[in-house]
Amino acid sequence: MSDTKTVKLVDESNNRSSELPLLSGTLGPACVDIGNLYKDTGHFTYDPGYGSTASTKSAITYIDGDQGVLLYRGYPIEQLAEKSSFLETAYLLLNGELPSKGEFAKFEDDITHHTMMHESLKDFFKGFHHDAHPMAMLAASVASLSAFYHDDIDVDNADDRKLAAIRLIAKMPTIAAACFRYSIGWPFRYPRNNLEYVDRFLHMMFEVPSEPLTLSPVAAKALDLLFILHADHEQNASTSTVRLVGSTGANPYASIAAGITALWGPAHGGANEAVLKMLEEIGTADKVESAVKRAKDKNDNFRLMGFGHRVYKNFDPRAKIIREMTHKVLGELGVNDPLLEVALKLEEAALKDDYFVERKLYPNVDFYSGIIYKALNIPTEMFTVMFAIARTAGWIAHWIEQHETPGARIGRPRQIYTGADVRNYVAADKR
Ligand code: CMC
Repeated sequence: MSDTKTVKLVDESNNRSSELPLLSGTLGPACVDIGNLYKDTGHFTYDPGYGSTASTKSAITYIDGDQGVLLYRGYPIEQLAEKSSFLETAYLLLNGELPSKGEFAKFEDDITHHTMMHESLKDFFKGFHHDAHPMAMLAASVASLSAFYHDDIDVDNADDRKLAAIRLIAKMPTIAAACFRYSIGWPFRYPRNNLEYVDRFLHMMFEVPSEPLTLSPVAAKALDLLFILHADHEQNASTSTVRLVGSTGANPYASIAAGITALWGPAHGGANEAVLKMLEEIGTADKVESAVKRAKDKNDNFRLMGFGHRVYKNFDPRAKIIREMTHKVLGELGVNDPLLEVALKLEEAALKDDYFVERKLYPNVDFYSGIIYKALNIPTEMFTVMFAIARTAGWIAHWIEQHETPGARIGRPRQIYTGADVRNYVAADKR
């Protein structure tokens, strides 16, 4: 007798049954393995939105949504936020362990020497309309990296996969800054290899030919921290997209470009841009009550952006950290933004409102991040691009893990067909 725990599913309508194994990870609830269900019973499962479905095994990130816990490779996000850097966190996500000093120096050196974008990619930008959304330019430019490096990469080769990871993490800030500069008609900046990752990005964003740029250590630290908090979040919509595209054998640039487009939606990473627009629309603290009222009205499409999460039914631990840093960063930068007062009032009003309490809707990572980006002079349309720079570390870590997993198959969900029954073609003159 096997000591593997199982769940038995009996279909009395056709007298067929399936003994479904229960799978356990290191942490978290057990999962019913339904792999044999169709073979045993002739049934599929139906779970739109994947509320009860684990799509993969993964050793990268763990979330306990009830307790508000987030771990990268076992390390609590609070500890990484306090002690790590974005690049070290990216190394951790990719490799599973924190680097030794030597390993980190090599990683940083590799990243630093892959930051340039191909000169032809610069010409590619000229095809965009001047007011194209930076996320559209980012997705297209990252997809176009396939055109520069396609023949170079064998997705079954571990060294090639690693090189793709380095290239993507290195080039993303360069491309992101180019998206911003193109939209305002500034000349592109080459990456300065004497600067660290975040400073280099800020330099490419804000340096102008006419005067020297003084980089702010407060701004760099704040951005680095935001990048750590956004670096991964297990099987969210964009990471699942990267994995689905990756499961076809597509190259990593095409897979990550798909992740970028998935991130763009306001229900996902696009929420940070939507939050700021919402706060601006609300305008003053005295209008908060009516915004909360609208958010509860089922006949109104308005939702409180930056509130709610599929997994967190408690405070999003990232939101807690960002909330605290918002006060600190604005104070240190000497910025007095009235939108912070609106945000604080909105949070307070929602957290004591029955509608939000009953549904366990708490502020998520995007609620306060926009106020910090704004204080760093990053334009609203670039907020989701910031998210994408950071999440690239997680996406590529998942893409690599997927390719290291033996027996992986193409992702291919099933459906419940609700269309017409079989019928015969009718000639045009008879319709
Ligand atoms: N404002 C008002 N009502 C809400 C909100 C909100 N922000 N979020 C959820 N609800 C309600 C929803 O109407 C539903 O009510 P009912 O049970 O009466 O039908 C209930 O709460 C459950 O919501 P759901 O849409 O079934 O939940 P979901 O897990 O499918 O969606 C979500 C999660 C994040 C898409 C959603 O909460 C939302 O749209 N939030 C606003 C957008 C946002 O901030 N997105 C960023 C997510 S965090 C960053 C990231 O990782 O992407």
